Amino acid sequence: MSQVDATSEPEPLPDALARLYDLDLLDDPGDMDLWLALAEQAEGPILELMAGTGRVAVPLAEAGFAVTAVDLDPAMLRRAARRAAAAGEDVERRLDLVLGDVLGLELAGAGTFRLGIVPLNSMLLLRTREAQGAAWAALAAHLAPGGLAAVDAWLPDAADLARYDGRLHLEYLRRDPERGRWVTKTAAAQHDGATGTIALTTFFDEGEPGEAAVRWFRRDVVRLTSADEQRALAEAAGLAVELVAGGYDLEPLGPHDDRLIVLARKPGDRA
Ligand SMILES: C[S@@+](CC[C@H](N)C(=O)[O-])C[C@H]1O[C@@H](n2cnc3c(N)ncnc32)[C@H](O)[C@@H]1O
Repeated sequence: MSQVDATSEPEPLPDALARLYDLDLLDDPGDMDLWLALAEQAEGPILELMAGTGRVAVPLAEAGFAVTAVDLDPAMLRRAARRAAAAGEDVERRLDLVLGDVLGLELAGAGTFRLGIVPLNSMLLLRTREAQGAAWAALAAHLAPGGLAAVDAWLPDAADLARYDGRLHLEYLRRDPERGRWVTKTAAAQHDGATGTIALTTFFDEGEPGEAAVRWFRRDVVRLTSADEQRALAEAAGLAVELVAGGYDLEPLGPHDDRLIVLARKPGDRA
């Protein structure tokens, strides 16, 4: 039985895609302990760029930290606001949700943040080296002297890239806990070595067996990067790279690691 009211208005596409983003994230990336540990050390306000539905920002606010979360998609931020409201008034008070583009970002609190983070591959959604550099520049401009920037990006290995040949793959069949419907996710990824990008086409088919499914789809381009490039972009933004790690345990990056965590500090003593 579907939990959805058949008479309800059709869901707008951006809202459906934001909801389905959270359905994807039922697979826990396992990064929250890292963000909590960095927040603990930061001793001051936190800025999250490209914060999406508040998957990271809300738990940070729940843990007692003041968080400013920036995203350019209103539907994603609406979900972040609902998530914060569900966590209680104190959490809502500690979380500032800002609708905005990280490119050229100028927040009133620039120069005051103790930690600036770009979790879970968001950096790769910025399609040029210049745009990724601008995100690093936004982190640098918003950090207080002595503040720390942390960027987390995926480094696909050769086996991953070989699979990205444009063929459609089943990603999952799972029930959406919110709407109570089955969702079948299929996706085709096409790697282009010339541009260092992966073009992703994703279909979500929602419905009960025997019913006509509602199909949503999205197209994304992911721009791949490297440890050297992210280090160079951090340095170009005036930050001093402290660590290039290969996973959420912050062990130094080694051969075959498929995750890149760069920690870089803004020079200067904290006021
Ligand atoms: C991978 S998702 C969110 C990740 C989120 N930090 C998390 O860990 O769950 C990437 C987000 O980046 C946002 N985004 C993409 N380009 C942006 C830009 N130029 N400025 C601000 N947000 C952007 C998208 O709207 C999307 O919500």
